[in-house]
Amino acid sequence: MDLPVELRGAIDSELAGRPPKELVKLVEELSSRYRTDLQAAAHERLVKSADDAAAYAAFRLPATYGAVYGALCQIKAQLPEFHPSSLLDVGAGPGTVMWAAHHRDLWQGSLEKVTLLEREPAMISLGKRLAAWSSLVSIQEAEWMAVDLTEDWETSSHDLVAAAYVLGELPAGARRLFIQRLWEKTAGALVIIEPGTPAGFVRIQKARQMLLAVGGRIVAPCPHSGACPMDAGDWCHFSQRIPRSRLHRQVKAGELGYEDEKFAFVAFSRQPGETVQGRVVRHPQIRKGHVRLKVCTSSGLTDWVVSRKEKDVYRQARNLKWGSPVNWS
Ligand SMILES: C[S@@+](CC[C@H](N)C(=O)[O-])C[C@H]1O[C@@H](n2cnc3c(N)ncnc32)[C@H](O)[C@@H]1O
Repeated sequence: MDLPVELRGAIDSELAGRPPKELVKLVEELSSRYRTDLQAAAHERLVKSADDAAAYAAFRLPATYGAVYGALCQIKAQLPEFHPSSLLDVGAGPGTVMWAAHHRDLWQGSLEKVTLLEREPAMISLGKRLAAWSSLVSIQEAEWMAVDLTEDWETSSHDLVAAAYVLGELPAGARRLFIQRLWEKTAGALVIIEPGTPAGFVRIQKARQMLLAVGGRIVAPCPHSGACPMDAGDWCHFSQRIPRSRLHRQVKAGELGYEDEKFAFVAFSRQPGETVQGRVVRHPQIRKGHVRLKVCTSSGLTDWVVSRKEKDVYRQARNLKWGSPVNWS
């Protein structure tokens, strides 16, 4: 999975005038602010200036794009008949969800109207400049709304509603109403994505409980709508590998040509989707003669050991990945 060429070109052009050293400094400042402020739950404005927005594009956008893509792919697999024509991207930043939802594997062919809600003018300006690089009319002509999500906001309902990496930036007391509003605006499916950390997962679990209570149908990743079986201290999350550009490697001071973004998410819909028997919630361990899988099912979390002797099942098990649905035939 890589960023679309147009988005990569747009980001490179945004960052082109900035010496790598300056970017590294901006990125360090932004990431330290994210660590401190989110941990302290201060909920300060984290991205305030054009510099911050540029650092976000360099440091976070490729990874959050990857996470959103990963979550949306799970939704698409569960809702094969869902062809959203409208998207509401809430806490949009530079429009990450909009770009990911238009991936050719996803809903490029059906999306016609996009609305993005974002508080920070610097993010909105950046998002509009990036969008100008797209060849897709729905991205170019997306409607950007300057909105503070902790205040009263209004928009029409949309087929697909997404809030990526924003729930944790809102004050805890504002989250319940926020999720309720998201669901009110959802005509088809709603997805909430958070960092794949214990704290991100707790927020996702709470959102899951709330949405189940108002009659939402769970789409992904959970294969059931019973109580979440994750043990205390453990957390359900997934991982998406994203290649790093040369600039990205410089900015992140990393040697690796890729990064693995961990994310937690939950998706609900108004219509029932395909059912699955289970979901692989850790990297499968392929050992000599057997495969070990941690699978979430309606009877709880199970550790399955599939021996090579069980020929057909073993063949299926070898192809499973972290996040794969499991349907034993
Ligand atoms: C971590 S970024 C995520 C951006 C994008 N969704 C992504 O996945 O890359 C969080 C975004 O939420 C926005 N945000 C945070 N609090 C907000 C609020 N109260 N109202 C509107 N936007 C807010 C921030 O300005 C920022 O752009």
